Amino acid sequence: MSHSVTIEFDGSSHSVPEGITVIQAMWHLGRPMIHGVGCLGGVCGACTITMRSSSQTESQTALACQTMVEDSMALTFLPPDASKKVMTPLSADVADEKKMIHFYPETRRCVACQACTTICPQGIDVMEGVRAAINGEISAVAEKFTSCVMCGLCSMVCDARIRPHRVGIYARRLSVAAHPGSADQLFTRIDEINTGKYTEEWERVMSS
Ligand code: SF4
Ligand code: SF4
Ligand code: FES
Repeated sequence: MSHSVTIEFDGSSHSVPEGITVIQAMWHLGRPMIHGVGCLGGVCGACTITMRSSSQTESQTALACQTMVEDSMALTFLPPDASKKVMTPLSADVADEKKMIHFYPETRRCVACQACTTICPQGIDVMEGVRAAINGEISAVAEKFTSCVMCGLCSMVCDARIRPHRVGIYARRLSVAAHPGSADQLFTRIDEINTGKYTEEWERVMSS
């Protein structure tokens, strides 16, 4: 016999099967999820929620595709990121510490409130990344934002209108431009795909 749990979603209680993710629970409830879902693998940042389980007194952010339903959990989906990305030509991507601040000058306005760090569903110390950007430490910024999924929550809560994730991804681009050899594994994987190493597995997944 399958068991069910009760979750509170946008203020109403719903019974859903246990052992499924929050996204799967939404499908179970008949919600098409045209917005708020993308990769289902924890990398696109589209499915951010705020949630609180019965054992918690404060809510936290999470990725709905990576979060299993629990009895008595309360959750709400968060809006998508609408922050503006600065367009910079790839040919201009040489590692120049002044560029981060040149393209994102508002970064200097950080008042060290920690709001961005507190809200990050990936547990990134976002504020430290912003401080490193102000100091022009490209590698440190790139390292800090390695697991960023670009959900944009850090930008939404920043009263100083800083876009930490945009600064983070730009530092990652600058970092790779400075050390192109570090992308060897990427080129190896592209070769493997082009020579058909994963074709059989891909067809198996697509036909299941
Ligand atoms: S929310 Fe904005 S002002 Fe506050 S620490 Fe983060 S970047 Fe700085
Ligand atoms: S750094 Fe910002 S955009 Fe990246 S995962 Fe954390 S909150 Fe989301
Ligand atoms: S759907 Fe992409 S991170 Fe959840």
